[in-house]
Amino acid sequence: MFGSGDPDADLMFIGEGPGAEEDRQGLPFVGRAGELLTKIIQAIGLERDQVYIANIVKCRPPGNRDPQPEEVSACRRYLEQQIDLIQPKIIVLLGRVAAQTLLGNDLTLGRMRDQWHSVREVEARVTYHPAALLRNASFKRPTWEDMQVVRDRLAEASGR
Ligand code: URA
Repeated sequence: MFGSGDPDADLMFIGEGPGAEEDRQGLPFVGRAGELLTKIIQAIGLERDQVYIANIVKCRPPGNRDPQPEEVSACRRYLEQQIDLIQPKIIVLLGRVAAQTLLGNDLTLGRMRDQWHSVREVEARVTYHPAALLRNASFKRPTWEDMQVVRDRLAEASGR
């Protein structure tokens, strides 16, 4: 399960790894968290097929556990090549695992939000994983705030 969407996308989302439904269909974010991600994308005026969606790990960690360091490193070069090929203008890192992996730290999600980072020379923003929003509705407002920042920066970067 590698990724999906427009290979020329300006906006790229990176999640953690496929869940059961993603594993079955071979596509990222097609389960409940994926439906919410689709709504988040639409809320900033885009459709799913206009962005690119990938994950840190390409195979489903059993029982939805966090991917182990050797699983992350096995998939890392692949993900880096995806980023380099797509060359998005902005990357959104969904959740702690994606953010810690690509920013190379062990900070909490709260510490990584609200600022621009750089991932392979691409501007990157950290927000909550949609699965976290399904568990805790109080994350919805800060996620929407993050996405508005992303939407505005994207418009600026694309000269719109
Ligand atoms: N959660 C993820 O991080 N990625 C998916 O593809 C689905 C759920």
